Amino acid sequence: DWCPPGGASGSPFSDYLLIQNVNLEKSENLLRHRTEDFSSSKALVVRRGAPFRVTLQLEGRPLNPRTDSLRIKVLLGNLYVLIPVTFSKKVSSSPWKAYIDPSGQNLQSPSIFICPPASASVGHYRFQLRVFTRNSWKTCAFGRFILLCNPWCREDTVYIPFEDQREEYVQNDSGLLFMGTPVNPVSRPWSFDQYEPGVLEACLKLLQVSPQHQNNRRMDYLYRNNPVYLSRVVSAMINSEDDQGVLKGNWSGDFKQGVHPSTWTGSGDILTQWAESAYTPVKYGQCWVFAAVMCTVMRALGIPCRVVTNFNSAHDTNGNLVIEEYYTETGQKLKRSKDSIWNFHVWVECWMARRDLGPGMDGWQVLDPTPQERSRGVFCCGPAPVKAIKDQRYDLFYDIPFVYAEVNADVHSVVVSSDGRVLSYNKDTERVGSLICTKAVSHSQHQNITRDYKHIRSPTSTLTSRSSTMSEDSTSGRGPMGGVAVFLFLDKGPVAGEPVRFSVKVINRQSVSKVIKMHLNAQAKEYNHSPSDTFWEAHHVIQMAPMEAKVFHQQILPAHYEDVVGDDLVNLAVVLEDVASKERVLASEEFNIASPQLTIEIADKDVIVPNKEQTAMVTFTNPFSHPVSGVLTVAGAGLIQGKIHFR
Ligand SMILES: *[C@@H]1O[C@H](CO)[C@@H](O)[C@H](O)[C@H]1NC(C)=O
Ligand SMILES: *[C@@H]1O[C@H](CO)[C@@H](O)[C@H](O)[C@H]1NC(C)=O
Ligand SMILES: *[C@@H]1O[C@H](CO)[C@@H](O)[C@H](O)[C@H]1NC(C)=O
Repeated sequence: DWCPPGGASGSPFSDYLLIQNVNLEKSENLLRHRTEDFSSSKALVVRRGAPFRVTLQLEGRPLNPRTDSLRIKVLLGNLYVLIPVTFSKKVSSSPWKAYIDPSGQNLQSPSIFICPPASASVGHYRFQLRVFTRNSWKTCAFGRFILLCNPWCREDTVYIPFEDQREEYVQNDSGLLFMGTPVNPVSRPWSFDQYEPGVLEACLKLLQVSPQHQNNRRMDYLYRNNPVYLSRVVSAMINSEDDQGVLKGNWSGDFKQGVHPSTWTGSGDILTQWAESAYTPVKYGQCWVFAAVMCTVMRALGIPCRVVTNFNSAHDTNGNLVIEEYYTETGQKLKRSKDSIWNFHVWVECWMARRDLGPGMDGWQVLDPTPQERSRGVFCCGPAPVKAIKDQRYDLFYDIPFVYAEVNADVHSVVVSSDGRVLSYNKDTERVGSLICTKAVSHSQHQNITRDYKHIRSPTSTLTSRSSTMSEDSTSGRGPMGGVAVFLFLDKGPVAGEPVRFSVKVINRQSVSKVIKMHLNAQAKEYNHSPSDTFWEAHHVIQMAPMEAKVFHQQILPAHYEDVVGDDLVNLAVVLEDVASKERVLASEEFNIASPQLTIEIADKDVIVPNKEQTAMVTFTNPFSHPVSGVLTVAGAGLIQGKIHFR
């Protein structure tokens, strides 16, 4: 053993020197390493690529730079490095450095600066300090520290150049997740909780519990220097397929055996529950929960991370970049296709250099912890450079074709008769990935990052129109007959308690008048499911003069949709039937109905005093004609322990 217990050996004469204590100088080091918010952690938390200071308390004589030498052994698991301590900042070419600046030092309690390289592995380290004197007197001391990535350090592969970005993507423990539809994005506050007691420890445990670590500790510790590796391991460990991951997914609608995914408000409860239950997957998660918990882990490890929502996210199981949807003649959407579109899907982006891919692929990388498809045999996804997704670089790692399809697949809408004949066929190239967004830096609003993922052809002004024409689409294989076009517009983002107002624009492009049947159909749906039964429909017969365009104003009253609000969405479709030619055209729109927001007002905002009670007022307005009830849950990271429930 390099450092025998008992601390010292040798002969205690005038050379007597003993390390009595090592002071980890926690408050100074945390401040220097921007880890001060981790002060509830028992350990010293520091970042790689920057020195931290420890102070020795010596008993006996002071340290003598001319005759004594010091060595530090830093251990990560069974791996270790031996670092000679120099008496000058400059010397030593080894990656790990340690030095004592002898000028102005009290050599009875000398300070040692230990500097891990910017390429050091992330983890929970131990160190041993040994002093050798001329008479081979040895004395030992021990310490521990947690080493994280360092986005402030230029040499670190996770370096991100702007302070406001580091504050948002590494340090901020609260954020917003976006859900709903592009018509009405809903922002959901999320508490990342990386500074709550036990959370950092759970994040590090996740690396220890991973199959990579269990199968080969040595290689795992070595690879942990690389954010590409770390992020891929974490992406697999957030879901519980293939391993003892953090969260169990459930999309069944029945959550009795666990927590409803939309009940979670932060990552802290999930990570601590997982760690305290001997790594039993926590029930239940869906995409935004998986992504938000991953964001917590990455921020805690020091890797810049943000949660991203892709609206109308395609899950193209057969890789042909086409998602098919089927409707009846009266506009009811059918459950038919294996491929699917989720109204929104949530993943994360982590910021890192891609030295494995060469220049040009550095920056934001997509990582998706939701278990959708296996990547190299395991449910994980990424890191996929956003630039590689935009340029369809299928030759690069990892999972670029899958993410490319999620943001770029085409939608083919097919109207079928009851005996299965195709009556109309329409191709929509704009719906999938129509809005990709994340929380803006330093602001509580969304930032549109669609352009980072997609080459946008020309700016289209219509926010909410899906249309089709009977004769335009030559791929349908039918001749240039008909000539009726239909467009569906929401007049504004629907709000609970108000009628949903929308317009149907019909254009007769031919020089004959037409009699047209109009079928309107609304179905409730969950964001990741086919719609359920029709809850509202309307049927009209309209007359169209030659070359005439008409707009029909329609509305769905609150009484009709009251059961739909909450997390549910609406699929609204219109099918027109030219009575003479039997031609059909379809237009459809999916939207959510904005629920009333809770507002929070803090009394005496300007005179908040630490450790003194504060009053907040929460207001909720019921927009419906019937009573609503529920539980109001109050949580505050760093402010209150646990949660407070009001019924
Ligand atoms: C989802 O939860 C329900 C009940 O809580 C359970 O019966 C079902 O097996 C779960 N599904 C999965 C995939 O775990
Ligand atoms: C985190 O983000 C919120 C919302 O943008 C902001 O109010 C807060 O100041 C940020 N906190 C930090 C530490 O940057
Ligand atoms: C988002 O940005 C894209 C590309 O700049 C633009 O086409 C689209 O209209 C924007 N969407 C919203 C809702 O702002």
